[in-house]
Amino acid sequence: MRRAVCPGSFDPVTNGHIDIVQRASALFDEVVVAVGVNQSKNRLFTAEERIDMLREACAPFDNVSVAGFTGLLTDFCAENGIQAIVKGLRAVSDFDYELQMAQMNNGLSGVETLFVPTNPTYSFLSSSLVKEVAAWGGDVSHLVPPVVLEALAERLKED
Ligand code: PNS
Repeated sequence: MRRAVCPGSFDPVTNGHIDIVQRASALFDEVVVAVGVNQSKNRLFTAEERIDMLREACAPFDNVSVAGFTGLLTDFCAENGIQAIVKGLRAVSDFDYELQMAQMNNGLSGVETLFVPTNPTYSFLSSSLVKEVAAWGGDVSHLVPPVVLEALAERLKED
């Protein structure tokens, strides 16, 4: 059984993330989307909200599940029998930090990291920009799953 993880904060999940998850799901028997729940207090959505939105957005993929995690990603991988971390690379600017994390994770536990080049359609896309554009009333309907669009409208109405 080949099992991979797609980790991230997913605040919120974008179509760029979903593209990477879908492509990972075609390469592995099982994919776990792992939501880091403890990295920052500065989130628009709670961990539960981020996980729920991911579950709905990933529902079409039979071999994909979603879980929250705290602590080291390498520990999550060991506890869940995961051999590979799959990350999307949007541009060279992503590479420096991603390489550092990949090398650190490999040194910690031997887990491998596979980089998937982002679909050029989404190379400019980030959760931060989605939040900023949505906050100023811009149209992000082509950039996020419908469940996220609804959640953004609700959350930004409250602010
Ligand atoms: O969406 P992000 O913010 O790029 O996700 C980063 C994430 C969650 C993948 C990364 O911060 C992570 O793996 N955090 C868990 C803690 C950990 O293992 N840190 C050491 C990384 S080498």
